[in-house]
Amino acid sequence: MSAVTDSSYAQSRARIETYFDRTAVEAWKRLTSDAPVGRIRATVRAGRETMRRTLMSWLPTDLRGRRLLDAGCGTGMLAVEAARRGAHVTAIDLSPTLIELARERLPHDIGAGHIDFLAGDMLDASLGPFDHVVAMDSLIHYRARDAVDALAALAGRTGTSIVFTFAPRTPLLAAMHAIGQVFPRGNRSPAIEPVAQGALTQAIAQHPALEGWQPGRSARVARGFYISQALEIARQ
Ligand SMILES: C[S@@+](CC[C@H](N)C(=O)[O-])C[C@H]1O[C@@H](n2cnc3c(N)ncnc32)[C@H](O)[C@@H]1O
Repeated sequence: MSAVTDSSYAQSRARIETYFDRTAVEAWKRLTSDAPVGRIRATVRAGRETMRRTLMSWLPTDLRGRRLLDAGCGTGMLAVEAARRGAHVTAIDLSPTLIELARERLPHDIGAGHIDFLAGDMLDASLGPFDHVVAMDSLIHYRARDAVDALAALAGRTGTSIVFTFAPRTPLLAAMHAIGQVFPRGNRSPAIEPVAQGALTQAIAQHPALEGWQPGRSARVARGFYISQALEIARQ
């Protein structure tokens, strides 16, 4: 079975779609806006900003003419930054509600760039080829094997690099439990699937469809209730 039809991938995807399109959509609207949030969510917002800056710093400053996939774009904040550098961005998310919001929030001044916002699966092969893929916190709810299969599927249509995040499996991750507390009990996110970086890079090295891809930069962002690890893989 391919990664796209594999049942554990499809099951995770269904839970994630329900969560981000219905359960927590209002919380996400607020978290990704300038509206005031409580102390705990403020740490998540600050951590996410640092993470977005980190991932953006691993992409070329000049993205004019480059095709970039924002895989699991949410409300489109990273897509807008990439477009401002000149990228032609395909920004896709499972949640049609978040995509609608991203369209509403799209600023007029994105310069030379361009963004196509789409509701759907990031692994949809009809999206075509890309130079770069960014997946910020969109693979953290998939089992490690499914996440690596997803990276492999994306790599097959990516020319230069993929930058993504995963939930690091470390003692600090006792605090991951606390992340579940960020939203009220009724709208907690689907389980996060922590993975040790060593196990992840080994799975990447051993995946036949990722031959010729090498892990590059890595950085952890830990701000209060936000803990996430960024990793770059690049075609050699
Ligand atoms: C934690 S949010 C992060 C959103 C955005 N990347 C950001 O950092 O603001 C994760 C997003 O990934 C999306 N997602 C998860 N799996 C996806 C898939 N297979 N295809 C498209 N979007 C996906 C979810 O719908 C959700 O909006």
